[in-house]
Amino acid sequence: MQQVRKAIFPVGGLGTRFLPATKALPKEMLTVVDKPLIQYAVEEAADAGIEEFIFVTGRNKSAIEDHFDHSVELEATLAAKGKTQALDMVQQMMRNPGSVIYVRQQEPAGLGHAVWCARHLAQSEPVAVLLADDLILGTGCLGEMISAYNGGNMVAVMDVPQNETASYGIVTPGADDGRIVEVNGLVEKPSPKDAPSNIAVVGRYIIEPGVFTHLDRQEQGAGGEIQLTDSLARQIGEVPFSGLRFSGERFDCGSKIGFLQANIAFALQRDELGQHLKSWLTERVK
Ligand code: G1P
Repeated sequence: MQQVRKAIFPVGGLGTRFLPATKALPKEMLTVVDKPLIQYAVEEAADAGIEEFIFVTGRNKSAIEDHFDHSVELEATLAAKGKTQALDMVQQMMRNPGSVIYVRQQEPAGLGHAVWCARHLAQSEPVAVLLADDLILGTGCLGEMISAYNGGNMVAVMDVPQNETASYGIVTPGADDGRIVEVNGLVEKPSPKDAPSNIAVVGRYIIEPGVFTHLDRQEQGAGGEIQLTDSLARQIGEVPFSGLRFSGERFDCGSKIGFLQANIAFALQRDELGQHLKSWLTERVK
């Protein structure tokens, strides 16, 4: 079985739910505590052993490219002022030269379309896909998936309240041992009454190269968009497909409430902030 060495980060979305913050700022650059969402996703991928980082960007996303490049003036200033800790931090987040690749999605035509835009870079290997909006606190989700990966397609899954199925890709489960669930069907954003289960896809995938053959057809699905879910569903029966219930806690940073919760949860975990924030929150909500 081939190793998972590459990851695709679709970052071309407009982020309209966070206007006006995202008018000029890419939504992936919104910060949880002091780190942009996209950096959490890149670090999760690097910790999972990913060597090539493929960003599918769009117009107005140059802040992401700058974030993962040297900032010569900043580094010189930090060095001159002896701020070695800050300097180490900005230098350590750099990836190996040539390992960060950008490709433009010319129109926001859906997640499947974004992933398809990276088809020539993915080539004939299994590749991870990470949605930075889905921020996961705890053990690296992609790392857990790669450890459990046995070929074919794999998605991270979680059980959601039945009335939320219309926000997710939803699985028709087969064999389910509580952690790994066989995916016998997958449908994008079904209404609660049509949903085959309440097992939802979270934004972490390992996809095998055959997915691109299906994406090539450019068929529109839910919401008039080209859905990754649909191409994965078409491969059922052709290749193994499983869902992994990961051990971390997921925050939907594409929604305001999820983003606020993530900020609080991540800050509570930080040595220098946690205790102070906890006392303040306790007083505040009294
Ligand atoms: C995307 C996928 C959906 C998945 C979700 C997870 O939807 O299309 O299947 O469940 O991410 O966050 P989006 O939230 O981008 O509309």
